[in-house]
Amino acid sequence: MSGTHSSNGRREVLYVIACGSPLARHVGNLVDLAQQDGWDVCVVTTPDGAKFVDRAALARQTGHPVRTHYKQPTDPDVLPPADAMIVCPATVNTVNKWAAGIADTLALGLLVEAQGLGVPIVAVPFTNAAMAAHPAFRAGLARLDEWGVTVLFGDHVFPLHAPGTGAQHVQAFPWEVGLTALRARSCPLV
Ligand SMILES: Cc1cc2nc3c(=O)[nH]c(=O)nc-3n(C[C@H](O)[C@H](O)[C@H](O)COP(=O)(O)O)c2cc1C
Repeated sequence: MSGTHSSNGRREVLYVIACGSPLARHVGNLVDLAQQDGWDVCVVTTPDGAKFVDRAALARQTGHPVRTHYKQPTDPDVLPPADAMIVCPATVNTVNKWAAGIADTLALGLLVEAQGLGVPIVAVPFTNAAMAAHPAFRAGLARLDEWGVTVLFGDHVFPLHAPGTGAQHVQAFPWEVGLTALRARSCPLV
């Protein structure tokens, strides 16, 4: 998948899901790279992710409102359906809940449903070394991987940092990794 046009002529839609981490402040970098790849990008945040992002700037950049909360049952869907999703930054909290099938945020509801629909999903966790050591997080990542989610995590992706220092490391984050993984899913030999 590389964000080109689908069979009905529309641009493929990528949901970028941003959780509660300082890295989310810079998620516009991922939006920019995804748009260069041809994706029609929509940003969804968790409620804690919303504390870190500039919603107005992201809405201008994508042409879509940033969504955070479930809509009212009678409200229309304001985003086009997703052809792929990248969860970046994925927090420990969201990974653990996702692996348990919990859908108590819009972001989690979209992920749980997307998995059932077979939508390709890439998860790029960002957390500190202490939180990353929790066995539930490790088990959650392994379960997601087992279920077909592309999990990009570890020193080969981005070295873990000490607690309280996350904001100092965001500038070096390799935003392109999730997009590269999506491309590899559609062209496994590339
Ligand atoms: C300033 C600050 C920075 C945080 N950074 C991270 C982080 O990088 N990774 C992480 O897993 N959790 C981080 N947390 C904790 C999450 O925000 C917290 O677990 C929250 O409940 C996550 O909610 P969400 O998964 O719905 O986004 C941070 C919290 C604060 C207040």
